Amino acid sequence: MPEQIDDTRAGRPARVSRRRRFLMCPPTHFDVRYSINPWMDPGKPTDAALAVAQWERLRSLYLGLGHQVEVITPSPGLPDMVFAANGATVVDGRVLAARFRHAERAAEAPAYAAWFRERGHEVHEPVFVNEGEGDYLVAGERILAGTGFRTDRRSHTEAERFLGRPVVALTLVDPRFYHLDTALAVLDDDQIMYYPAAFSAESRALLRELYPDAILATDADAEVFGLNAVSDGRYVVLAEQATHLFDELWARGFVPIGTDLSELNKSGGGAKCCTLELRAPSTRKGAEND
Ligand code: ARG
Repeated sequence: MPEQIDDTRAGRPARVSRRRRFLMCPPTHFDVRYSINPWMDPGKPTDAALAVAQWERLRSLYLGLGHQVEVITPSPGLPDMVFAANGATVVDGRVLAARFRHAERAAEAPAYAAWFRERGHEVHEPVFVNEGEGDYLVAGERILAGTGFRTDRRSHTEAERFLGRPVVALTLVDPRFYHLDTALAVLDDDQIMYYPAAFSAESRALLRELYPDAILATDADAEVFGLNAVSDGRYVVLAEQATHLFDELWARGFVPIGTDLSELNKSGGGAKCCTLELRAPSTRKGAEND
């Protein structure tokens, strides 16, 4: 655990972290050149050097928490490639490639798929649009799956079959929260936090039923990308401005850690968007992921 993090305040129950393996892409070529979500304003200046510095801090944070971080080389023509979460979905070592909704990001899918193939993974080429872990969040034995703006509803069946875990479909209705990972974060196998107003009435009812004790985010939490968070079961990395979520997390035994990704926020992304989890096959099935 990094020295600067004082986790003695964490409440009960005591949470246990599990070591993760992540894939990240440095924002060397970061820019906002087009607009495919309401946060993106190509008229606003960006600072790639600052984006890289903020990203480096996020990467160091993961390393300090004991996680492993792999890095993919960014392509010059793909300013959103920093959002590695959209690059694929990896469960039990099985790689479901992404297929982007917008032409501006289309070439990221083969770039990420190539990274996996070069490391000996078989990659499933999807039939339907899906934006990786932007819309597919693994929660224990189930996968929470977003739709409404990016990932095609029909992709859910494809993901369920290929990844071998039941998919729960959730419909997003607020264009500011266009990916599931901007509106909901998985904290551990059976705990989540989410922003109810981002979901259809039916999906809200479903979430209430599945997770009656979930942490509910306020408008202010959601608007600073507080739900775009990465949890290892104990430490939860999220936007430092999401103060209400910090209190809720402390109260439930988690240890929130703040990040400042103000540059990447200009493209509509935060910590989780920059982070793709590489889930190895479980040991009972044999080999390691790489
Ligand atoms: N500008 C990117 C887009 O609109 C941001 C992607 C954020 N990624 C995420 N996992 N939510 O596609």
